[in-house]
Amino acid sequence: MKDNVVGVGVIGTGMIGSLHAENLARRVIGARVAAVMDIDRGRAETVAARCGAKAATDAETLIADPAVDAVLIASPDTSHAELTIACIEAGKPVLCEKPLAATVADAERVLRAELAAGRRLTQVGFMRVYDQTHRDVHDLLRAGAIGKALSFRGRHFNPFSGVKTIETAIVNSLIHDIHSARWLMAAEIEQVYAQWVPALADQPRSACFAVLQLRFGSGAIGALEWSGDSGYGYEVMVEVIGETGTAESVSHSSPILRQGSTIAQAVTPNWPQRFAQAYIDEAQIWIDSVRSGEPTGPSAWDGYMSLAAAEVCIRSTETGLPERVVGMERPALY
Ligand SMILES: NC(=O)c1ccc[n+]([C@@H]2O[C@H](COP(=O)([O-])OP(=O)(O)OC[C@H]3O[C@@H](n4cnc5c(N)ncnc54)[C@H](O)[C@@H]3O)[C@@H](O)[C@H]2O)c1
Repeated sequence: MKDNVVGVGVIGTGMIGSLHAENLARRVIGARVAAVMDIDRGRAETVAARCGAKAATDAETLIADPAVDAVLIASPDTSHAELTIACIEAGKPVLCEKPLAATVADAERVLRAELAAGRRLTQVGFMRVYDQTHRDVHDLLRAGAIGKALSFRGRHFNPFSGVKTIETAIVNSLIHDIHSARWLMAAEIEQVYAQWVPALADQPRSACFAVLQLRFGSGAIGALEWSGDSGYGYEVMVEVIGETGTAESVSHSSPILRQGSTIAQAVTPNWPQRFAQAYIDEAQIWIDSVRSGEPTGPSAWDGYMSLAAAEVCIRSTETGLPERVVGMERPALY
């Protein structure tokens, strides 16, 4: 690492990859973008020029580059496992966007690669852990403000961005809420029951709305509500009901406006606006951990267990029944 500044290689420069590259280049202390790579060469070159980085021809070259101390993976879900394993085998810390892999079998391969390396190198991009409204609820829970947690409620409403299958809704979008539930309730999900409303009458596995009912290992219960077409913007909130009170996150920081016989509050249009600061804080804390050598944040274990729960949710959509989540024993490394 040159001058204690982490040279980051970014793989995938689409929506989130270019946002991460900009943050690393301009808003994160102790980092620089050393190289970027995308199968769309023109896109990689544009982002590279904006960040003062080089455009690598392929992922292997980028990972092996001595100027690359750590790698951020923001390519599509199906590429995550192979690329993360390549980083682990090269001994380079990696921030992999969620989900850790496209299937739980692939997530287990990542976990086993890290266990073979004998150290935590992987952080998964569950950035709600760095969102202040989520942190406030987390801190209240850990301080015992509402006693033992009895129930979790999550709401994740999106503006329309194309019709999704129930599988994509769960593995690519609800995976955030599954991780939030595990993290805030400090318990693994043991049983799930999934129901959904199709977006298109002639495509029963399309989804416009879904509810995942949960039972945790702690005995607590919960429900995650997801919309793929809210009709009003983007909203994410969590609420925990405890033995002696409840804690609920504030979804919006915009002022409440009372005017002309109405009370109104503006809603963020989509995730880049709602979580803008969380992406910066996530990258900063990751870079700090790369510099100190102390792993932090959502781990490969979190990525694996969240996918294990997601896959069982999909099974529940197929069987129409509550299904049990069975993961591997938690390794001592985590
Ligand atoms: N944490 C979050 O809130 C968040 C938000 C959005 C997306 N994501 C995740 O980030 C990833 C990317 O999502 P996106 O919305 O930016 O998608 P996107 O389609 O906008 O961008 C993906 C980019 O990867 C490139 N690409 C495709 N295959 C590649 C490969 N094998 N190697 C290198 N580059 C490749 C594409 O050309 C494209 O530029 C997904 O896994 C998604 O789940 C996370």
